Amino acid sequence: MEEHATIAKLLSNAGQQIDALVGKSVVVKVGGSTLGSHDTAIEDIVTLSKLGIKVALVHGGGSAISTWLQTVGKKPQFIDGLRVTDAETMEIVLMVLAGKVNKELVASLNKLGGRAVGVSGLDGGLIKARQINEDLGLVGEITAMDLSLLDSFFALGYIPVVAPVGVGDRGESLNINADTAAAEVAVALKAESIFFLTDVVGICDHDKTLLPRLTMSQTQGLIATGVITAGMIPKAQACFRALDGVNGAHIIDGRGAHALLRELLTDQYAGTTIVR
Ligand SMILES: Nc1ncnc2c1ncn2[C@@H]1O[C@H](COP(=O)(O)OP(=O)(O)OP(=O)(O)O)[C@@H](O)[C@H]1O
Ligand SMILES: [Mg+2]
Repeated sequence: MEEHATIAKLLSNAGQQIDALVGKSVVVKVGGSTLGSHDTAIEDIVTLSKLGIKVALVHGGGSAISTWLQTVGKKPQFIDGLRVTDAETMEIVLMVLAGKVNKELVASLNKLGGRAVGVSGLDGGLIKARQINEDLGLVGEITAMDLSLLDSFFALGYIPVVAPVGVGDRGESLNINADTAAAEVAVALKAESIFFLTDVVGICDHDKTLLPRLTMSQTQGLIATGVITAGMIPKAQACFRALDGVNGAHIIDGRGAHALLRELLTDQYAGTTIVR
């Protein structure tokens, strides 16, 4: 009840911000790890969609994929935050990411009154990709996007939920980092902004303090000096890519209550904003 009042107040004070966003698109990326029971991202996305804002949700699923790999006796392996993907891992990625994780997100959005529809990058040729290198195996970099499917969904009032799998030249499925896919979706959609919801407060310095605002070159420096590591590397690089076409790229803590609504509709910025 109290929470209901909080949202109502937030919305009633944000008339101007909402008007400016109606009919525009916003991309939200959620990580597998943040999707816990206290998460309000799903609720926020439904709220934004009902206001007439076109929200595309792109999801990861790192922890669920690792769990299933371990169930079949395979050890998850990463190079600079990217999952090394052999043929067997790719099968699990497809089953878990385009299957379980995608459908559970769709179900959660619909349960809260949203109209969500789940697709992978294979559907409608949404994401075309090519293999990055031999060492990573079936990991793709995006070569082209076909937004027809997403445009149709938006026109019908649906919230598209995208599993980051791409199709290669020979029709093979390629595993794509979800942050990378989200950035490409944002650029292709000419989205207003992109939000990466993750399980930390934002990008932190070597002494663990939050860095609220970073330029691209400062962020490059943090990667070079090893302050930014692992899954934060593709996320930072995805922000760089998103800034080719999008005004704001934000990495925020998805665990906070209504982090997304606050970020988008108030001037209470949390997390890290990366600027050109
Ligand atoms: N400088 C840094 N500041 C904050 N987090 C960092 C930094 N360097 C590395 N990290 C790590 O990056 C992680 C976030 O990326 P990660 O890929 O694990 O999650 P995600 O992208 O939200 O989820 P998924 O990969 O499932 O989509 C943090 O949990 C943290 O361990
Ligand atoms: Mg990640």
